[in-house]
Amino acid sequence: MTILFHNTTFDKIDVWKKTIKKYFKNEKIISIKDYKKFNDVNCAIIWNLPDDILSRLKNLKVIFSMGAGVDHILKLKNYNKKIPIIRIKDEEMGERIANYSLAQILNYQLNFKIFQNSQIKHYWSGERTPIDNKNLTVGILGLGFLGNHIARLLNKLNYNVIACKKNQTKVKNIKIYTGKNIISFIKSSDVVVSILPSTPQTNNIINRKFLKNMKKNSCLINIGRGNAIEEKDLLNHLKKNKNFYAYLDVFKNEPLKSSSQFWKLPNVTITPHVAGVTAIEPSVKYMYSKYKKLRKNKNVKSDVNPSNGY
Ligand code: GLV
Repeated sequence: MTILFHNTTFDKIDVWKKTIKKYFKNEKIISIKDYKKFNDVNCAIIWNLPDDILSRLKNLKVIFSMGAGVDHILKLKNYNKKIPIIRIKDEEMGERIANYSLAQILNYQLNFKIFQNSQIKHYWSGERTPIDNKNLTVGILGLGFLGNHIARLLNKLNYNVIACKKNQTKVKNIKIYTGKNIISFIKSSDVVVSILPSTPQTNNIINRKFLKNMKKNSCLINIGRGNAIEEKDLLNHLKKNKNFYAYLDVFKNEPLKSSSQFWKLPNVTITPHVAGVTAIEPSVKYMYSKYKKLRKNKNVKSDVNPSNGY
């Protein structure tokens, strides 16, 4: 089989290439420059593949997303829903995203942003009482594979964890809300961690109404996708409520333009889409295990439902 590898945004692309060669040692690995071999390509390991390249891969049997999200594939006009997509489901990524969430929650509850802003002004802000874990309710918006990792870590550390998800299910130690009672979920949260996939249903879900229902001095962490936030509404909310904090890892348009107002606001922390960096070794190992199944059974079960959008 021939594998097309394409990714221009991730860190450590050399390590990715080496690791793919190590696992897929009997296969030919090509790049988008090797267009003469496109007809041989059966498998693609990709992140943000251009649509015109996808249209030229006529013999594709499987697509591996190099991350947890698959919106970068589903949005392509030339994506044929019959081609199975495998996305990364990995414990290390789960640990990374849980660590990221915890770091931003701690930043908020220990007033670090306030101290950072006062340092810029050379101003000793004085003692501020932190919020204790047991008194902080963290609401996880989107309780999938990764959301569960965050919930488990926070539960261990004595936070009060609640979650909002599509379907009502029982999860130990977590009060679950669904779309129907999302307002109660928002009103009960001191911190909202949004980890929603990008779908038509999640578009601008965090809008003026959502923000108005959040507690006045609370905090929003977005590590899902930028489509979930109506950015104009969030900017207005942040300007009006100086003690409301936003920790933003994802945006509607990435990279975030230097002209964006988000950069300038003292109650915003920006990171460049790094909350759930894919762990290379376990992810390639996972891809290879699925690939072996495909070779053996001539097909592989996709864990993505294109109609759901994730
Ligand atoms: C990152 O955003 C991912 O989808 O893994």
